[in-house]
Amino acid sequence: MPMVNTTEMFKKAYAGGYAIGAFNVNNMEIVQGITEAAKEVNAPLILQVSSGARKYANHTYLMKLIEAALIETNLPIAVHLDHGDTFELCKSCIDGGFTSVMIDGSHHSFEENIALTKKVVEYAHDKGVTVEGELGRLAGVEDDVNVSAEDSSYTHPNEVEEFVSRTGVDSLAIAIGTSHGAFKFTGEAHLRFDILEEIQRRMPGYPIVLHGASSVIPEYVDMINTFGGKMPGAKGVPEEMLRQAASMAVCKINIDSDLRLAMTASIRKVFAQSPGEFDPRKYLAPARDEIRKLVKNKLVNVLGCAGKA
Ligand code: G3H
Ligand code: 13P
Ligand code: ZN
Repeated sequence: MPMVNTTEMFKKAYAGGYAIGAFNVNNMEIVQGITEAAKEVNAPLILQVSSGARKYANHTYLMKLIEAALIETNLPIAVHLDHGDTFELCKSCIDGGFTSVMIDGSHHSFEENIALTKKVVEYAHDKGVTVEGELGRLAGVEDDVNVSAEDSSYTHPNEVEEFVSRTGVDSLAIAIGTSHGAFKFTGEAHLRFDILEEIQRRMPGYPIVLHGASSVIPEYVDMINTFGGKMPGAKGVPEEMLRQAASMAVCKINIDSDLRLAMTASIRKVFAQSPGEFDPRKYLAPARDEIRKLVKNKLVNVLGCAGKA
């Protein structure tokens, strides 16, 4: 099956009340762990690449790994740029074969965000590539830029219709209280479902994206701490809230930190139990398998997209 853009995936996800998992990829073991899980449960997938991942692993290596996954799985897979911040970066990914890009103009003014997003949409649509925009600002760290809680802001529902109609963007990431990284909430987790509901009411059928959606699985945090790490107070989005979002207008749920935690916990365990280990396959194979188990659970029990490929 060839790579796909996100149009059909989102149409079906919206109608079916489930969400597509958008998982960040940085190397072969991560691509394999995610795609093996999706194959086991016949789920569509979005594999997303940040500019940091592209710098780390190289565009061509990542594309070829994903092409290999397509051959191995025969699943509908979209290859998506995560948090593109310039027209040039989006253009480079589109020209290099990505089927979907995010232009994150959320740090610009409303008018500048519109102008930048529209420019990317025009270039992308001409080539059959779908575009995700962002309105509102999440807190947390992405690509080494740290947005403090004070600088974050919720999405205003009254801006969404104008943004979408003036840009023609295919989906929109909104800020309702999630944040990037492993430290999302200090107290009780709270998301502004009222904002999501209002957007859904005003724009029925329009696909919404939820970033910062890792649950920061406590078992992995405990495992990291048991085997020599230090992650005090890490806290993520409860799975129940993700299920609720997926049943509403949210069609794409972004997960990266949970993959990092699974991989790190597994590797720490191997080194703690076998301090003399120096064959990378001996610690990367269990890490890959831990990612497979984690992703399978997300697809089946949280996102609801198992069997939807
Ligand atoms: O939202 C950001 C993603 O977790 C990607 O993180 O920029 O460190 O690759 P990264
Ligand atoms: P997490 O840090 O919660 O995994 O969010 C990832 C993300 O939003 C990527 O764009
Ligand atoms: Zn994000």
